This record gives sequence, structure tokens and C-alpha cells, in this order.
Amino acid sequence: MTRAGFAAIAPAMSANKPGDPTTLNRLYGRGKGRPLRKGQQALVDELLPQISVPEDGPVTAQRLFGQDCPLHFEIGFGGGEHLAYRADLLPDHGFIGCEPFLNGVVGALTHIRDAHLTNVRLHMGDALDVLSRVPDGALSFLYLLHPDPWPKARHAKRRMVNDGPVDMFAAKLRPGGEFRFGTDHPVYLRHALMVMSRHREAFDWLCEKPADFQNRPGGWPETRYEAKARRQGHEVWYFRYRRR
Ligand SMILES: C[S@@+](CC[C@H](N)C(=O)[O-])C[C@H]1O[C@@H](n2cnc3c(N)ncnc32)[C@H](O)[C@@H]1O
Repeated sequence: MTRAGFAAIAPAMSANKPGDPTTLNRLYGRGKGRPLRKGQQALVDELLPQISVPEDGPVTAQRLFGQDCPLHFEIGFGGGEHLAYRADLLPDHGFIGCEPFLNGVVGALTHIRDAHLTNVRLHMGDALDVLSRVPDGALSFLYLLHPDPWPKARHAKRRMVNDGPVDMFAAKLRPGGEFRFGTDHPVYLRHALMVMSRHREAFDWLCEKPADFQNRPGGWPETRYEAKARRQGHEVWYFRYRRR
């Protein structure tokens, strides 16, 4: 088959459907890993239902926390250490964390129980399902730390930093709100910079010098994934974007 012939049929053969994670509407990767111990299962059975984001309807501070308060949203919180650290630091703010991986959710539940956090709500599943139900302009902070890199070009549309999700991030953040993003993946880094540069109308990149993205900003604790990346000798880059 000629190259041109292959190009003509390639889109139909590819797993990379048109659009990006907001339109693919499916989750990739694993939902479950190690079997849970008894105490962990009890957290899932007892604590998780008490602090789960409602399955439908608007996701507002009033509905989740019984009062208006600044809202923070973390996409893919992994083991939940960043979410718990921030929630502990800002007890008057409300935190929403989304993560489809059960063992990660258990990690977050453990932090929430141990630190007696009452200002965190969790969703075990796709963050964009919940984010789409947050009223526009309601978020003060949005965190995306070490998203799955999907390094192959044909999987680029699965990356969370893509035009569709970034439009949604812009809509959900209030003016002055902050989008924090971290990665150790050079391919993702270049991709994200390119996507974010297309959204200059909505976001100011808070960066004056290389040190601003080479050093972890204050109030941004190291995540488990980041620690692993550093142990493997990777560089890590940190980005802060302010909603205009
Ligand atoms: C590489 S891990 C990083 C975890 C954590 N942020 C950290 O830095 O340690 C990426 C995480 O994103 C989660 N994830 C992937 N797609 C997601 C989605 N659509 N919504 C929420 N989380 C997602 C994965 O389950 C995984 O835990």
C-alpha cells in the first residue's frame, strides 16, 4: 500500500478518535491494582459513600460543604497526598478530588481519616464528568499533577492537556483562579506548552524566568509520582497559569 493510501484509511483504523478527552468520554488505564486489606475495604465501604461527590446534578460548594467557600479541584490525585496536604493547609476551603484508580482512592481516604479532614469530597472515576457539573467561574484552583503522558503521537488526543479540557478548565476557574500543572515527561511538556499557548486569551503563564518552572513553588508538595520520577533522575517542571 502506498503512503498516501495508508494515510487515507489511517484515521478509521486508529484508536485515536477525533476530539480529545472531553469528547472521547472514556477512561484509559487501570481501575484496580493490589487487593485491599480489611481496613482499606472498610474505608471504601464506610467513609467513601459519606464523602462522595453526588452522582448527578450541580457540584457546588453549598451542596458539597453546606456553605460557600473557595473551591479546589484535583484531577487524577494518585495517592491523594497533594490533595490532603492542601486541604489540611486550607481548612476553610472545599476540595474535590477525582481518581478512577481504587488503590489511589484508598490512599486519599487514609489521609482524610488520619488528618480528620472534613473539607474533601471524592469521586472515583473520570474527573471531567464531575468538572462539567461545576458551575462556570466556581473554582479557585485546579490541579493536574503528572497526568498520564500518553507519549505515542497517535495517543496524543488522550492527554488531559488538550483544547477541549483546557477550554473547560478556563470556563470553570474564576478570574484570578489558578491552574497548576506538573510533569516530568518531555513529550508532554512540549505538547502542553503548545496547547496552553493557544489559550493565551484565557490564561497568563506565571513565569518570568526558567527557575519559575524548574523549582517546585511553595505550597506545592511533592507527589508520589514526582518522587518516583526524581529517583529515576528525571527533571520535573511546574506550571502555574492564572485565569484572566
Ligand atoms: C501518573 S499518575 C499521577 C498521580 C498523581 N497526580 C501524582 O502526581 O502522584 C496519573 C493519574 O491520573 C489518573 N487519571 C487518568 N485519567 C483520569 C481522568 N480522566 N480523571 C481522573 N483521573 C485520571 C490515573 O488513574 C492516575 O492515577
